[in-house]
Amino acid sequence: MYILSIETSCDETALSLININREKKSFTLIEDLLISQIPIHAEYGGVFPALAKREHKKNIPILLEGLFTRAIQKIKLSKKIKLTQEKRKKVKKILVREEGLADMILEIFQKEIPPIDALVFTQGPGLAPALWVGVNTAKAIATLIEVPLYPINHMEGHISSILLKEGYQNEKIANYPLENFSFPMIALLISGGHTELILVKNWGDYQIIGETLDDAVGEAFDKVARMLGLDYPGGPKLSLLAEQGRENEKIQLPRPMLHHDDYRFSFSGLKTATRYLIEKLKNEQNFSKAIKADIAKAFEDAVVEVLTKKTEKALKAYHAKGLIVAGGVSANKKLREAFQELTREMQIPLYLPQQMLCGDNSLMIASAGFLHILAGEKGKKYEEEIEAKSNLRLGESL
Ligand code: KG4
Ligand code: ZN
Repeated sequence: MYILSIETSCDETALSLININREKKSFTLIEDLLISQIPIHAEYGGVFPALAKREHKKNIPILLEGLFTRAIQKIKLSKKIKLTQEKRKKVKKILVREEGLADMILEIFQKEIPPIDALVFTQGPGLAPALWVGVNTAKAIATLIEVPLYPINHMEGHISSILLKEGYQNEKIANYPLENFSFPMIALLISGGHTELILVKNWGDYQIIGETLDDAVGEAFDKVARMLGLDYPGGPKLSLLAEQGRENEKIQLPRPMLHHDDYRFSFSGLKTATRYLIEKLKNEQNFSKAIKADIAKAFEDAVVEVLTKKTEKALKAYHAKGLIVAGGVSANKKLREAFQELTREMQIPLYLPQQMLCGDNSLMIASAGFLHILAGEKGKKYEEEIEAKSNLRLGESL
């Protein structure tokens, strides 16, 4: 069963094609393509929703055409569909707000296309204008080829990203066997927009047990990075700078909510404390390159300590049989090491996405779709109304 997956929730346009074997509960990666808009948004110091929409609209036909050509070459299967006037009209109507996209998609579908048995796509959470491009593209394609649609929660996608095994690009089977996982698990999801602790009772059965009251971890990383003069998105750059940092008794930062008896987080206080510290050091003309590295280290240490301690508490309270850490910030080396140590001590397995799959991508959405299909879900009919949901939460029905 061939599944086409689409991700457009933020600043990455991504498309992939996988082939699911339901009996064997496995899938093969056929093709996985992504265009990052980071260089475009970097100029503005953050993601600009209208610009993201424009770029997704531009990138989708490029990726779709590339994906189809490569997939046909690889699997040596293709077909041609009948583009009736009625279908053309429907597609134009679905994509009425994505000017120009309908014509480009119709042009691609005039040629040979690979087999596609279902569409999976990110419905939310994310930036509404960006999400809509993916939602409407999925609807338009499903209408053209008359297949079901599976709307996916982006955060479930991050959880599902851990299913992809090392070397997934070249292996016959791309995913770890599902029997490898025991429930319940705890998932810590850390990205530019979210910081959540999730009780994973089973695949598809998620409950948020704690989240941030203000800034997300990735957002705090990016804001502090900016204070240190690093470009957007500064998270990874701050982390690199932190490697040169030393323990410095003049640079002490708080550990917000660490001793609260719950699973909530708060990072805006830490960010403000860092800002005051930087202002003070600047006034004292003590804001050297070495001091910047010390601040980066102090900030990263504070974040790592809060995240690991809160997660440890949740793992114990829920007798978790495994820990998942996913989302863009899970690429952070210090954090990966800290969680490796924690899970080694607790003697439970740690599941991290492959480095390439920490940030947003469509393969994680395909993985989540794979789980929905294995669970026997039928998907939505292409005639049904489907909306982008920018505030979608895990555990809420789609
Ligand atoms: O999941 P993601 O790609 O997009 C969202 O859904 O938000 O996460 C992006 C976030 C950004 O804030 C970025 O700075 C942060 O992940 N990030 C990192 C690292 N790599 C990415 N933060 C800290 N250390 C890193 N190595
Ligand atoms: Zn994400």
